[in-house]
Amino acid sequence: MTSAIPINMHPNNMNSPLIYLDNAATTPIDPEVSRAMQMAAKEYYGNASSLHSVGTIAHEILDQERARLASLIGASPDEIIFTGSGTEANNLALKGVAFANAHRGRHIIVSAIEHDCVLKAARWLESQGFSVTYLPVDQHGLVDVQVLENAFTDKTILVSMMHVNNEIGTIEPVKEIGNLCRERNIYFHSDACQSFGKIPLNAASLNADLLTVNAHKLHGPKGVGALYIKSGVNIEPLLHGGGQEKGIRSSTENIPGIIGFVMAAEIACREMDSETKRVTGLHEHILCILKQRIDGVYFNGSLSARVPHNINFCIEGMEGEGIRLQLLLDEAGVCVSTGSACSSNDGGNPSHVLQAIGLDPFQARGGIRLSLGRFTTQKEIDRFLDVISEKVKQLNPIF
Ligand SMILES: Cc1ncc(COP(=O)(O)O)c(C=O)c1O
Repeated sequence: MTSAIPINMHPNNMNSPLIYLDNAATTPIDPEVSRAMQMAAKEYYGNASSLHSVGTIAHEILDQERARLASLIGASPDEIIFTGSGTEANNLALKGVAFANAHRGRHIIVSAIEHDCVLKAARWLESQGFSVTYLPVDQHGLVDVQVLENAFTDKTILVSMMHVNNEIGTIEPVKEIGNLCRERNIYFHSDACQSFGKIPLNAASLNADLLTVNAHKLHGPKGVGALYIKSGVNIEPLLHGGGQEKGIRSSTENIPGIIGFVMAAEIACREMDSETKRVTGLHEHILCILKQRIDGVYFNGSLSARVPHNINFCIEGMEGEGIRLQLLLDEAGVCVSTGSACSSNDGGNPSHVLQAIGLDPFQARGGIRLSLGRFTTQKEIDRFLDVISEKVKQLNPIF
């Protein structure tokens, strides 16, 4: 067995503290959450579908956690379906609604900057006879509601638009989008994996019919998510089996994971206001110092409609050196990302999000994303700023 690496130390250099600025990819689990999960794995091992006392306890816990999660997003408990991830919830929303409502129409609208799990589910639906409109965004990464209105047809059954973008942090006008969809009797789904716990999320006030949330973006465990499905929405299950989760998502529920998810979500929502203030301060400081110290730095995404946790920038003339800069920072114990973590599985293609806001493929390879979390400190940011100011001197302009 390999020995565990302390999480706050750099894995390749045990003398160097680790500065983790990739919280949009995933967050370190909150120790309090981790403890609660360990306890739950021992105590609540029952199958929530078993009729005996151990199963009944697991079932009661499941009901209780469902109600707590529901209350965080203004839903009722029977509108929450636990899933194995955000990816699964998004796939269930798109494919499940498409197949259950194909008799009404076969047209779906998504934005061009959705997470790959939405975009690839949409492309797969095209192969199954659905037509999909990929809605462009403006230079700030915002969907124009007028453009959306023009894209509706009498065959449109579903619109899926993310609440906050994972690469550039843009907050989309989902309330207006939800209103438009509601007026036309079109289902509205929003992927809220990057907004939940950072900005207020309320299913009713967004007029959302479906909302995806997950745990590992808010200091909870990986492999747990949920789909809010407004009561009355027609949806076809993707997983068939024991009929758990009202028959919409068969599979034995992951009680420790769900406990960890709900606890992490409650902490994030409780601390949202103070964290927003604190992280906004860090954000402004980073922007100011990067502008002062790095010639040609430019920032991607909206200046105002964004979560403060995200900063995405390129350095003019150095865009071809994005991955090298990431590696140099990593050597010095600073974790940032270029593009989204998932795009690295696709051979590091230029970011589809940065291209959608108007960057050319060369520039779109050079975006550096910093994403801050609840455990990011001012001291870490100061150290990061010192390290990056030094490391950029080693880059060579490539045109
Ligand atoms: C916006 C968004 N949607 C969906 C996902 C996928 O979530 P999961 O990793 O839980 O499958 C992510 C995470 O990468 C994300 O950032």
